[in-house]
Amino acid sequence: MDYQTKLKNQVMQIESALEQWVPALADDRNLMGPNRLHQAMRYSLQAGGKRLRPVLVLTAAELGGKDRTPTAMAAAAAVECIHTYSLIHDDLPCMDNDDLRRGRPTCHRQFDEVTALLAGDALQAQAFIIIAEAYGEQSALCVSLLRELAQAISAQRLVGGQMQDLLAEKQAHRITAPELDYIHLNKTAAMIEVSLVLGGLIGGASPATVETLRASGRHLGLAFQIIDDILDATVSTDVLGKTAGKDAKACKATYATVHGIEFCRQRAAEETQAAQRTIATLPGDVSHLLALTRHMLERGH
Ligand code: IPE
Ligand code: IPE
Ligand code: MG
Ligand code: MG
Ligand code: MG
Repeated sequence: MDYQTKLKNQVMQIESALEQWVPALADDRNLMGPNRLHQAMRYSLQAGGKRLRPVLVLTAAELGGKDRTPTAMAAAAAVECIHTYSLIHDDLPCMDNDDLRRGRPTCHRQFDEVTALLAGDALQAQAFIIIAEAYGEQSALCVSLLRELAQAISAQRLVGGQMQDLLAEKQAHRITAPELDYIHLNKTAAMIEVSLVLGGLIGGASPATVETLRASGRHLGLAFQIIDDILDATVSTDVLGKTAGKDAKACKATYATVHGIEFCRQRAAEETQAAQRTIATLPGDVSHLLALTRHMLERGH
């Protein structure tokens, strides 16, 4: 199967897993609160992101040679729930204050701020419910998946990176290189790393292989955020599906605002090559994973 067909199949399967794992209605259909939250959760989930993180889960899971898609699908859905929660909160007026996401009004614009805040909280909880339910009978695996995912979004990682990102606003002129890397490695690379790690764990990878996956995710995640910063500065709102030019306007400290576009392109290519070199040392057929890294570097939105 060629790369594009395989990717399309993976995305289709992820869309239907999300449909299955995130409830449409509360158990008590007359309860307005949970119903409104489920509606908001599904609104943001169904808006159709690129689904790159769940695709990484599925792809890492099958490196062992077996088709692990059915077993890995729950973890893939969980990762997308966490990612979507992080986007809903990222867009809130108290954070990046964005009106557009995935080509539609942001969750707080479509519903209201309280609903968006709580829908994000609920999506985070939903991710852990999905993992506990799907892998609970394999207790050692389940604990590893829960630990890895919780660590990836902890105060040290995703949430820490988001905090640093917001503290650095309007400080772009004095941000240090380690601070800038901290933001990117945590607000974004943590989730890319953990997507590969969860896939590896589900696919039965050895501890050494899991660490190689983590290392490649770190390079890939850094490249991913640098490209997101380039796209913010160079692509139209229509193509992006989110408001273009927001980083410069909000005086964000990004690779693009601090170093300029040319430096960014070079750095993104270097990090992608470093990811590819690391991936090439993994056991199994890594061709789909390598093609994905090219796709992530060359993406237009
Ligand atoms: C956007 O992620 C947020 C970042 C971490 C840069 P994506 O570019 O993967 O967004 P979707 O999921 O495709 O909408
Ligand atoms: C978002 O980074 C990172 C997380 C949501 C954790 P950005 O703020 O750059 O993402 P976009 O550009 O709004 O998608
Ligand atoms: Mg942000
Ligand atoms: Mg943002
Ligand atoms: Mg951005």
